[in-house]
Amino acid sequence: METLSSRTAYDLWADAYPAFAHNPLMHAEQAIVEPLLLRLRARRALDVGTGTGRYLPILASTGAAVVGVDRSWAMLTRSKAALKRPPHTIISGAGLTGGGAGLNDCGAGLSGPRCICGDAVHLPFRRGAFDVINASLMVGDVADLHAWAREMARVLALGGHLVYSDFHPSWTEHGWRRTFRSADGATHDIAFEAHAIDQHLSALGGAGLRVEAIREPRLNAGDDPSIRAFRKRWGNPPIVVIFHAIKEP
Ligand SMILES: C[S@@+](CC[C@H](N)C(=O)[O-])C[C@H]1O[C@@H](n2cnc3c(N)ncnc32)[C@H](O)[C@@H]1O
Repeated sequence: METLSSRTAYDLWADAYPAFAHNPLMHAEQAIVEPLLLRLRARRALDVGTGTGRYLPILASTGAAVVGVDRSWAMLTRSKAALKRPPHTIISGAGLTGGGAGLNDCGAGLSGPRCICGDAVHLPFRRGAFDVINASLMVGDVADLHAWAREMARVLALGGHLVYSDFHPSWTEHGWRRTFRSADGATHDIAFEAHAIDQHLSALGGAGLRVEAIREPRLNAGDDPSIRAFRKRWGNPPIVVIFHAIKEP
């Protein structure tokens, strides 16, 4: 099977990518991330690599002004489905990276989230624009974790919170591949950037982000025979890692 670059893969995947947790890994991740985001009660929230917008309604439910950013136009177009309340505006990030003129309020005053097509490592927002950033399952597409963490820290206000998840280093240890099925039923393999826990810690520390908590959930077998089979074969390793970091005042 040909391994697709993440850019190609998400454009192809978008039509079949639901805006809710749609596999056991996402369920395990969301069981930790969602309550944390609800507790943080952002005023200005950014969802980086928002995809089809799984976390947009969750962030918006706290009353925050919410912005989602993603570099895949196809995924953003599908994010409309995640949002119950209009207006939901999708804006091209092209030409905005020089300071984000017109976007510096980050949606404050709007009654629904905004989505912007742009790159996580060059965000079109001013310094300190958000008090909470979420970034779920997207740093596995980012080669330069240090540059990414610096950009998160730049747009985060002092005392602001960064919550993000990544594929656990278990994936590399066990040689697991990331695959998905596109709308036409074909299965594809996606390239991903493996990051060790030490690399996360070094990137966060280098960006002035203090680690508040790290979680490493495993799959919950319950009655699901496929998860029981997985656990039997692999010994139930952690499958995702979640970081909560705070920008030091
Ligand atoms: C696995 S999906 C996760 C989507 C969503 N956060 C979720 O958990 O349902 C990863 C998303 O990150 C986006 N992405 C990857 N690299 C990016 C970058 N450098 N800048 C912006 N978005 C990026 C992809 O286009 C894709 O939509």
